[in-house]
Amino acid sequence: MIKVQLADRVRSLPPYLFASIDKMKQEALSKGVDVIDLSIGDPDIPTPEHIVEAMKSAVEKPAHHRYPSYEGMLSYRDAVAQWYSRRFQVTLDPKTEVLSLIGSKEGIGHIPLAFVNPGDVVLVPSPGYPVYPVGTLFAGGESYIMPLEEANAFLPDFKAIPGDVLKRARLMFLNYPNNPTAAVAPESFYKEAIELAARYNIIICHDAAYSEVYYDGEKPMSFLEVEGAKDVGIEFHSLSKTYNMTGWRIGFAVGHKDVIAGLGKIKTNLDSGVFQAIQDAGIVALRTKESVLSGIRDIYQKRRDALCEGLKGIGIQIDKPKATFYLWAKVPSGFDSTTFAAHLLNKAGVLGTPGVGFGAPGEGYIRFALTQPVERIKEAVERIR
Ligand SMILES: Cc1ncc(COP(=O)(O)O)c(C=O)c1O
Repeated sequence: MIKVQLADRVRSLPPYLFASIDKMKQEALSKGVDVIDLSIGDPDIPTPEHIVEAMKSAVEKPAHHRYPSYEGMLSYRDAVAQWYSRRFQVTLDPKTEVLSLIGSKEGIGHIPLAFVNPGDVVLVPSPGYPVYPVGTLFAGGESYIMPLEEANAFLPDFKAIPGDVLKRARLMFLNYPNNPTAAVAPESFYKEAIELAARYNIIICHDAAYSEVYYDGEKPMSFLEVEGAKDVGIEFHSLSKTYNMTGWRIGFAVGHKDVIAGLGKIKTNLDSGVFQAIQDAGIVALRTKESVLSGIRDIYQKRRDALCEGLKGIGIQIDKPKATFYLWAKVPSGFDSTTFAAHLLNKAGVLGTPGVGFGAPGEGYIRFALTQPVERIKEAVERIR
């Protein structure tokens, strides 16, 4: 038997902070507790039927059974460009400024390999999606944490980043609407980010996975709508949350053509693109009627209102989020995020995600996901009461 040794990059991965909560959940389930799981960032609503139907016929086409093109079918990239033009009035060249991804996670995880040398800095928001620092680590880069604090509307404070860090920075990840804080960024913030990136030659990678999960008709903007954005960066996008397609694994990156080409180079050497039948279904998804999407948003809005108003009724104040299907709530005094999550699970059978799992600056918060039917959310509130 050989001695199997993990590479340093794997051994230096941060500890999995949700492990203790996962264990507690399994224990509760094995004891027969009816756990209301508000920890999952995965839509419970099925993919709209017209998309499933498109997939059924696409899968029968023999041409789709062969290797796809690395950068995505031109028809898919064209549908992405048309969607950007309709939704954001942003013009994209489908040939050079759009790249298909096997879910946006794939592109986010891989992009540091294209642009980060060992020792280079990547600016990473925290709390945040764990793939930003992990992709950085795998490329040998150093994450510089930009804390997202309530006092600054959960936006990073660029003025707090030391000059020598900015000089060594190659990439900056940003994510609005934000997971986990549910914050939305104003245009002035993107302008500031673009100015900084242009001054220090930093590539901005804006993760817009939640841009279509919004409330009260207030559409979040694309980073690419802001003047100069395409000169400094790209936007990652996903069909996962918009069309309830998390299991299908399809997304895209758009923006600066050299950045798109660099990411494409990594992908050419690592994967063989998205199954073409899924791209065909993706084209149909991107052309989904507004009435279908507003129906999905209405479901989340009812859930959001039920949870926010329910919690308010028992003395837990949360500002209603403008976007995403998350609520980011302060834990009561006497608890940290992990002990509070454990307390909620043990006393009420309700599971939230401890904020510290998204990075140290998330300590003191718990994230609730609106991925359960409204009746279950109301029941969760009653149990918490
Ligand atoms: C902020 C953020 N970005 C990206 C993703 C990845 O989504 P996908 O790979 O399904 O496109 C997620 C998934 O939860 C997310 O929360």
